[in-house]
Amino acid sequence: MYKIVEKKTLNKEIDLMRIEAPLVARNAQPGHFVILRVEAEGERIPLTIAGIEGNLVDIIYQKLGYSTKLLGEKEAGDTVEDFVGPLGKAAHIRDSKHVVGVAGGVGAAPLLPQLKAYKEAGARVDLIIGARSESFLILLDEFKAICDEVIITTDDGSAGLKGLVTDALKHHLEDNAGIEHVIAIGPVIMMKYVTLMAKDYKKSIDVSLNPIMIDGTGMCGNCRVSIGGKTFFACIDGPDFDGSDVDFDELMQRQSYYKDEEHACYLRLKT
Ligand code: NAD
Ligand code: FES
Repeated sequence: MYKIVEKKTLNKEIDLMRIEAPLVARNAQPGHFVILRVEAEGERIPLTIAGIEGNLVDIIYQKLGYSTKLLGEKEAGDTVEDFVGPLGKAAHIRDSKHVVGVAGGVGAAPLLPQLKAYKEAGARVDLIIGARSESFLILLDEFKAICDEVIITTDDGSAGLKGLVTDALKHHLEDNAGIEHVIAIGPVIMMKYVTLMAKDYKKSIDVSLNPIMIDGTGMCGNCRVSIGGKTFFACIDGPDFDGSDVDFDELMQRQSYYKDEEHACYLRLKT
């Protein structure tokens, strides 16, 4: 059992939890993830680690499905059944002098430790962070503390620039020829279009892929993704990959395989 030491509501859909997990905390690096189960017979939920402090591991989750809703019902002082990690490969921190991170919605959570690592490595670090509306923007203070420039976009214009992150990225790339590298984490469709833009501007691009996972150890094959015509397992080969040859369309299709079952399960929780 793993104790929830703190719980913070970031907005009506998203919570942050600090979980006491000394072994995970001791070994985790940016890009690593954990798989947790809320209860013994529960679904396994993969979540990228958003931060580490001492023995505590921060996770940020969106209460969209059955298991994340169940997790959201837990409070500080409660426990979760399992908390396995760190899993995956640590993100590759490139030797780039100027990077721009692009965060979409809850994808901001796994981006934060990566941008911190770039800052610590001496890079200039800019951020473009986008959300549906102001209340869905998360971790702004944490990003402002480490980034040289933070550009906010919202779909409805309630904060920052009105539009998508790609609108702001285009201007930023035009104005900053020195940018060498782009990192995008958010909805797959966003990562697809950020990747196309990075390629247009001849910048390297890393993305974090989130296919359906079960075991997280390379056994089940559910998390397979196609990159440059080859198959990789996001859980052991990623989740971070060079985005330039990722088959994003196939990933989107595979992510939706169990939509009906997920929805039926979610409805069970409401009744
Ligand atoms: P969202 O759908 O509200 O989108 C967030 C932002 O992404 C938008 O405000 C917009 O600026 C941008 N965006 C969306 N569609 C776009 C498009 N077609 N072109 C360009 N930009 C676009 O995000 P959400 O509801 O918070 O969902 C976040 C998503 O991130 C989830 O799908 C989740 O699975 C994913 N996620 C991924 C990882 C990862 O490791 N890859 C981690 C956490 C979350
Ligand atoms: Fe099973 Fe990756 S989650 S192989």
